[in-house]
Amino acid sequence: MKNHEKSIDPASQKMLDKAYAEGIQTVWDRLEAQQPHCGFGELGLCCRHCNMGPCRIDPFGNGPKLGVCGANADTIASRQLVRMIAAGAAAHSDHGRDIVLAFRAAAEHGEGDYKFKDEKKLLALASEFNIPTEGRTIQEIALDVSDIALDEYGMRGQKLQFTKRAPKVRQDLWTSLGVDPRGIDREVVECMHRTTMGVDTDYVNLTLQGIRTSLSDGWGGSMWATELSDVLFGTPEVVKGWSNLGVLSDKEVNIVVHGHEPTLSDIIVFAARDPELLKKAKEKGAEGINICGMCCTGNEILMRHGVPIAGNFLQQELAIITGAVEAMIVDVQCIMPSLPTVANCFHTKVISTSPKAVFPGATHVPFDEKNAMETAKQIISIAIDNYPNRNQGRVNIPSDRMGYMAGFSVETILGALGGTLDPLLDAIKSGSIRGIAGIVGCNNPKVRQDHNHIALAKELIKNNVLVVETGCAAIASAKAGLLLPEAADMAGEGLAAVCRALGVPPVLHMGSCVDNSRVLVVAAAIANALGVDISDLPLAAAAPEWMSEKAVAIGTYAVSSGIYTVLNSPPPVLGSSNLTNLLTAGAEGVVGAVFAVEADPVKQAGLIIEHIEKKRTALGL
Ligand code: SF4
Ligand code: FE2
Repeated sequence: MKNHEKSIDPASQKMLDKAYAEGIQTVWDRLEAQQPHCGFGELGLCCRHCNMGPCRIDPFGNGPKLGVCGANADTIASRQLVRMIAAGAAAHSDHGRDIVLAFRAAAEHGEGDYKFKDEKKLLALASEFNIPTEGRTIQEIALDVSDIALDEYGMRGQKLQFTKRAPKVRQDLWTSLGVDPRGIDREVVECMHRTTMGVDTDYVNLTLQGIRTSLSDGWGGSMWATELSDVLFGTPEVVKGWSNLGVLSDKEVNIVVHGHEPTLSDIIVFAARDPELLKKAKEKGAEGINICGMCCTGNEILMRHGVPIAGNFLQQELAIITGAVEAMIVDVQCIMPSLPTVANCFHTKVISTSPKAVFPGATHVPFDEKNAMETAKQIISIAIDNYPNRNQGRVNIPSDRMGYMAGFSVETILGALGGTLDPLLDAIKSGSIRGIAGIVGCNNPKVRQDHNHIALAKELIKNNVLVVETGCAAIASAKAGLLLPEAADMAGEGLAAVCRALGVPPVLHMGSCVDNSRVLVVAAAIANALGVDISDLPLAAAAPEWMSEKAVAIGTYAVSSGIYTVLNSPPPVLGSSNLTNLLTAGAEGVVGAVFAVEADPVKQAGLIIEHIEKKRTALGL
């Protein structure tokens, strides 16, 4: 495959050429080396849940149709799907837990490095949970909120607090199906229990537990991550900034923060402004310190501070290959284990910071949240010391960069609309906006980088569908200029007019992957305003380049919340026709939504538009 076929992004193409010229292996080379992928794995028909196996089911020939224990294709594929959901939910929710703990620490030791930047949001949460506020300090109130948050991880309640934000009909449906999520940790543990050898065998019963676990992510762990991050680091407001590898500087110390949790990246942004560190950078011959983001921790500081974003998932190795990165600081999730090897070809230091994610070959500087500012300064200092090691002769920063407008939290969207959802509802009712689509998720080297994200978004806005995005999808749109108000020129007449009147782009960046919870909140608010269920809305979702187990959890909570969801490729379930039918057809009668699988992004848009029009007709619009 030619380099320009691997990505539509010119900056990525240039760095792929450089990697090839210098003999540096990237994710695309490793994908090629893995061909052909294991067919049993692709179909979800291999199992190694016990030591009588590993077993595999022959889907076509005369080979075994049962594992040693007697498990059939339905059982094996559904157990695997449930474990993928559990892993994805665990990732989002454990991230959420770290935010809850940082929040609690801020409540306990008000003098620490984390402060409550959005007390209004904290008070709103207190009122949602009936926590008394009269005559109490903000710390006392926050402690009560953190008690509730921590209880959500256990099994104190009958169902998670935030599920009450969903329309009543949806809550009743979940209750009648027996899928009310009870405790965030509990659901993940129950998935592991039920998928171990000799427990749950029924693919429908297993899938229902997958649904319950995904709901504990979307309306639980992810939502706590978003809500308390907003309180701690500030609720995003409209910001402008720059995207793509061209944000790296040839004269400054470049530090790329990569991973997912804002506890580290947010404090790095402020630590980098320290005059002592700036002085030190100058002493080392640099003109300054340039903090850039990558993936979702990049999205967190992009949304709150307009920090430049160097790229999305498939650009992590390419950023190092520019030769201009002094340090890549990583925390958790979506960090390729290859980074230290790529960094070895240059002066770049990969600095791991989480006790949960240690990378052989990287420098490990444990991030101490109680000493956040000091640790952040120490890490930046390592990067500054590394600046003189940069070989300017090997530096090649692509000039490609693009501006963005972001920061579309629910609060920002309401603000842009003048404080109420009514103008948006009116635009949907009048048909100038046909509906809303959420495009989310990752990059995957099996798909030309960003191609599906961009082709799908362009087709949707052209057809007057407002697009909301998170994660790597949103970074793809930033690089392609779709997050600029001028992108309204690419939208259909109705959507363009609304965007121009409000001064916003037709593609709204709502944050990191855990911030898909913001999309749920908007969906619930619209459904409540119209007095219908989420599944009745002209609303759909897509993950057109997904790769992570987290995306499986997100897709499942979207469908379980009533949102039709299009994937470019299926999770490993095709070996079970019963499970495949349940996910793509049968679920309609259970949760009012299904998954669809379509590789072509223009056809994906067609499916979404068809769905939106069907829902409009049913609503009498
Ligand atoms: Fe084989 Fe059953 Fe053990 Fe899986 S659980 S490895 S199918 S014997
Ligand atoms: Fe992410």
